[in-house]
Amino acid sequence: MKKALPVNKLKVGMYVLMPMSWTDHPFLKSQFLLTSGFQITKMIGAGMKEVLVDFSKSQVMDEEQAPVVVVPEKPGNEVVLDELRETIFDKTLPPLTKAKQVHQYSGEMIKNLLDNPTAENISATKRAVADVVDLILDDEETSNHLMLITDHDYYTYTHSVHVGVLSICLARNIFRRSNAHDFYELGSGFFLHDLGKVRINQDIINKPGKLTDEEMADMKKHPNLGFGILNQTKQMTNEAKIIILQHHERIDGTGYPKGIRGDELHVYGKICAIADVYDALTTDRPYRKKMQPFEGLKMMKEQMMHHFQKDMFEQFVLMIAVKKN
Ligand SMILES: [Fe+2]
Ligand SMILES: [Fe+2]
Repeated sequence: MKKALPVNKLKVGMYVLMPMSWTDHPFLKSQFLLTSGFQITKMIGAGMKEVLVDFSKSQVMDEEQAPVVVVPEKPGNEVVLDELRETIFDKTLPPLTKAKQVHQYSGEMIKNLLDNPTAENISATKRAVADVVDLILDDEETSNHLMLITDHDYYTYTHSVHVGVLSICLARNIFRRSNAHDFYELGSGFFLHDLGKVRINQDIINKPGKLTDEEMADMKKHPNLGFGILNQTKQMTNEAKIIILQHHERIDGTGYPKGIRGDELHVYGKICAIADVYDALTTDRPYRKKMQPFEGLKMMKEQMMHHFQKDMFEQFVLMIAVKKN
């Protein structure tokens, strides 16, 4: 028995059918069992008003009747991680669709993590990042699309995904699959490079303008704060430590938190620094429009070249320019 129900009447345990084409709703499948309130929130967020409910496949009866089975509600992040994994391993998805969905679910995963950076969430996120790393290393077409996806607005979670993807791609090109590097731990470090921002006053993070000296001094604490979170939650690795602490250091010594220079900077920190600046320039900010990839790279070359390792930056330019054409 199928019945149309308004989205706000849905309950966990109902089997729902999307009333539109799968390209127009935010789920991987067009019919599924609701296992979390998060999925209902997602429908509301996507502007959906009504869906079909198939009560013959549901684990609860009609909305007026008492539920016959209580389905344990999965936390939102578990649902997202399931959907991300399912997308990565779905061999039927065209590369562009797969890239868009991996991008979307990765963003939601990092958003959930930043909302609640517990040891359990960090560890679950690291496992999911390992699947994203495998996808980037094994599926060139999808990873090329993934690298070129940009968002309009800048949020720490979308930025984390972009920097994660771009840095893994650059590391892949530089290290050429050498087994001297643990790509899973590198991937986690890149995705979590700004974790410390969760401990910074959000008014500073979201300030639509230039930061005062005092606010900037607070902002500059985020590498050490991120390091602290990973230490406290016992999720630290050597790769994450280097990336989190060094992604704002610069070759000429003008970076922070320590102002180290030249060869004192580890190659992992240098990779993340390039991806980090590129993403910041190519995303809309409240105080300036985003630059096109070419403009961003040009500005980095003309005005910031002393910040980066030259051959590494050239590899990055090649990676973006070749994929863009
Ligand atoms: Fe940062
Ligand atoms: Fe960053």
